[in-house]
Amino acid sequence: REQPVILSIESSCDDTSAAVLKGAQVLSNIVATQQIHQAYGGVVPELASRAHQQHIVPLVHQALATANIDKKSLSAIAFTRGPGLLGSLLVGTSFAKSLALSLDIPLIEVNHMEAHILAHFIEREGYTPPPFPFLAATISGGHTQIVRVDGPFQMEVLGETLDDAIGEAFDKSAKLIGFPYPGGPLIDKHAQAGDPLRFEFPIPKVDGLNFSFSGLKTSILYFIQKQQEKDAGFVERERDHICASIQHTIVKILMQKLEKAVAETGLKHIAIGGGVAANSGIRGALKEAEEKQGWTTYVPPMEYCTDNAAMIGIVGYFKYLENRFCGLDVSAKARYSI
Ligand code: KG4
Ligand code: ZN
Repeated sequence: REQPVILSIESSCDDTSAAVLKGAQVLSNIVATQQIHQAYGGVVPELASRAHQQHIVPLVHQALATANIDKKSLSAIAFTRGPGLLGSLLVGTSFAKSLALSLDIPLIEVNHMEAHILAHFIEREGYTPPPFPFLAATISGGHTQIVRVDGPFQMEVLGETLDDAIGEAFDKSAKLIGFPYPGGPLIDKHAQAGDPLRFEFPIPKVDGLNFSFSGLKTSILYFIQKQQEKDAGFVERERDHICASIQHTIVKILMQKLEKAVAETGLKHIAIGGGVAANSGIRGALKEAEEKQGWTTYVPPMEYCTDNAAMIGIVGYFKYLENRFCGLDVSAKARYSI
């Protein structure tokens, strides 16, 4: 039968995005990143929802125009129902509902965390999706999760962060050494020139496959304060080594948990998603695990790792095939587990 054409909308945090998919293929995927939060050193929920409101209509027009699709030929609308910031989710949810109502087509609600994982199934040149069952690690500024994936809608969260997300650990550490928000990429850049073993930060002891990153931030803060008291030029002079040591610690925390997940499940196919997948230390450690431990790792192109509507669209496609539609009375859910 004819492949469905699905318009998808993502507005869970600080990126507004609209995409059009035909089957599992992306015809367009447009993202408007909100710059306004930079000045505040973090996402301001009130400003985020206002910016979503400003962006959403032009973005949807742009996504349809780029895909060369008339809205009258859409088969369904998919949108992020949660988890995320409630005010932000409400913008995408109400827009999707109104459009589905006016076009009289089905509406599909999508869990953002499932979408990060199913993004691996977006069709692209020369790609191989991970075979079920596999492990997924979603690592970003908002999430840190290890999930067992037995099928598109058979997922089980094995572990997640109890406090800060891994991206927040990068960003908050970066702030302590004077980098602007979001400082994760800057830590990565400076780490390339530093010695990862120069300074040692503690690895938190957390049960099972859960994570905790807030203690790391505190120990870095105390370490820097102590060193600066003795020598005001410390951070300036040792910046690259501090970055390399922080990155080394964060990578170690992640890899230890992934190794534990592999040992407990016997699964060696690991799919990575989220913006922190860009980190060179993590990529290096995964490559090493492929060579030394026989893992197969999967990282989609960065445009499908960071928050985007194409990943919402691929879940929409899978649900469309099973007629898993929702009613117009559906409401956004700030807390919405897999
Ligand atoms: O998925 P994402 O774009 O957005 C949200 O979580 O909303 O992830 C952004 C996060 C930020 O914390 C950013 O600092 C981090 O990913 N990040 C990195 C790198 N690139 C992005 N962290 C470390 N190294 C990088 N190269
Ligand atoms: Zn996300």
